[in-house]
Amino acid sequence: MLHDNLGVNEQGHLTIGGVDTLALAEKYGTPLYVMDEDKLRSNCRIYTSAFAKYMPSGSMPLFASKSLCCKRIYSVIDSEGMGTDLVSPGELYTASAAGFELQKAFFHGNNKTDADIEYAVDSGVGFFIIDNREEADKLNSYAASKGIKQKALLRLTPGIDPHTHAKISTGKVDSKFGTAIETGQAEQFIAYVLGLSNIDLRGYHCHIGSQIFDIAPFTDAADIMLDFAGFINKKYGYMCEYLNLGGGFGVRYVESDPDIDIDANIKAVSEHISGRCAANAIPVPKILMEPGRSIVADAGLTLYTVGSVKEITGFKNYVSIDGAMTDHPRSALHQSPYTVLNAGRADVRPDYVCTVAGRCCESGDLIQEDVKIVKPARGDVIAVLVTGAYNHAMAMTYNKVPRPAMVFLKDGKDSLAVRRETYADLMALDV
Ligand code: LLP
Repeated sequence: MLHDNLGVNEQGHLTIGGVDTLALAEKYGTPLYVMDEDKLRSNCRIYTSAFAKYMPSGSMPLFASKSLCCKRIYSVIDSEGMGTDLVSPGELYTASAAGFELQKAFFHGNNKTDADIEYAVDSGVGFFIIDNREEADKLNSYAASKGIKQKALLRLTPGIDPHTHAKISTGKVDSKFGTAIETGQAEQFIAYVLGLSNIDLRGYHCHIGSQIFDIAPFTDAADIMLDFAGFINKKYGYMCEYLNLGGGFGVRYVESDPDIDIDANIKAVSEHISGRCAANAIPVPKILMEPGRSIVADAGLTLYTVGSVKEITGFKNYVSIDGAMTDHPRSALHQSPYTVLNAGRADVRPDYVCTVAGRCCESGDLIQEDVKIVKPARGDVIAVLVTGAYNHAMAMTYNKVPRPAMVFLKDGKDSLAVRRETYADLMALDV
């Protein structure tokens, strides 16, 4: 099996966290998001224990809320000792409603409106990750009106393409996020923010990309950021307390993806950082990272029911299911690979090549093309594995298809975390 929380029971049914997926489909209906909380917690612990072992004291992994945002997740990450990164007031509202300690929250966004800034300050969010000068001005004046100094990091762009590992002069430097180091604008921005009396600048943030298996893009980014921190320290006498390296490591979606050792990677990144700080004669800053995918993806799967098996003689076989790109948008959007199984016959070698299609009136609504599964029939349950990240979070209601429920599993017991959307919910905003 792709991950250690998946198995097959005596009836040949796929299990997750030891629970029979067919029993879950029967109890809650399909489509259904299933989250294995034990796996989720063990993923959190890989980061928290590696940070505790290898990173300077005060370093912390922050869960990237964008990968999965619902109330239940915040109680898990809170109790696992993680902070969080929030990219919108909606995520902030959800974290706050879940009782998450907002001092451990880092508020992102390349266009925070005045209302967003006021809401986040009023909520007591720990850190802003300031993207641009307009935001810095508004934050400074609002913090002044409240008589506080708001802690903040500045989002900078180191100019790394994670897929070539090359430090390129255009490309990522032209990102809509943050301020470029290479153009000299980051230096100007820091000098400017250091002059704002109600912003307490604590350090820098960068993010190089997502679904990265290798440490080189992280160490390349760290080199650029630490050299820059050293330069700013020398020139302005300002040494950053924090360096935030952005998103976490990649995840195994299909057999051909590598199975990486995140603990060893964090150790290697940490050693690299220490060496680079020594070379720059600066103290090692507290390190932050914002893993999302590698915390939740492999803790989740989605269950669907087959409606039809259509064989176009000489061409293609389509297996149509009761979900769609609405609950599983990443395949249609990014052509992302996923592993698909006939959940009731997980003990049989798959030999039927088919395209698993969603129910939307859109020919690109394909969950996965040309996968090999055990030939299903109407009523069979199909499982799509490793769907815990960026599926519920990116779900939509195109074609007025309601969004699935989400069930959490803990110690072999299931409980509803997000109820199924109803037709009435779909019309709730119509006046
Ligand atoms: N921090 C920042 C600033 C980010 O932009 C991201 C992801 C993360 C953290 C989390 O990265 P992770 O650990 O999950 O790789 N919707 C796309 C993913 C977009 C990710 C964008 N940023 C997808 O479906 O693959």
